[in-house]
Amino acid sequence: MKKIVVSLCVLVTLGLQANDIASDMKTMRDGLQEMQDGFLYNNSKSVVSGIDKIEKVNGSLHSKESIESFLPQEKKKLVGVTLLSAKSLNSDLEAMREYIKQNKMLEAAALHSDVMKDCTRCHAIVRGW
Ligand code: HEC
Repeated sequence: MKKIVVSLCVLVTLGLQANDIASDMKTMRDGLQEMQDGFLYNNSKSVVSGIDKIEKVNGSLHSKESIESFLPQEKKKLVGVTLLSAKSLNSDLEAMREYIKQNKMLEAAALHSDVMKDCTRCHAIVRGW
């Protein structure tokens, strides 16, 4: 009986975690889309709103513990690299925000691909690409 209760708890916890990361990542994806539309449709407010969305979720990925919790067992030793991609994502977003403040849209738009690269760098580890 005890074993069943413990297994159920583990399953529920794992399920919740999986859900959290999926919904957080959906917010990241929405933010990236909003950012891209902002550049395409000449709407800097939309770019900033995209930056805000991504940054909010990314903030929760900055601790070793939180990243480790969603990495598959065999990838946990790579936590340092995923941490770096989350940090680099943050600095690219901040640089983009600064350029937009200064109305330097070309420089800001050039960072879009760096942001995408930061997302992909972490996914590559998680997914074994
Ligand atoms: C520090 C690591 C990390 C960073 C940085 C990161 N992600 Fe993720 N992402 C994950 C993990 C873990 C998963 C879940 C496992 C998988 O899908 O392979 C995931 C999955 C996703 C998914 C698929 C979700 C699903 O329901 O299948 C999307 C979309 C996504 N991320 C978008 C983004 C975007 C956009 C960015 C950058 C703005 C980003 N992620 C940055 C770790 C990260």
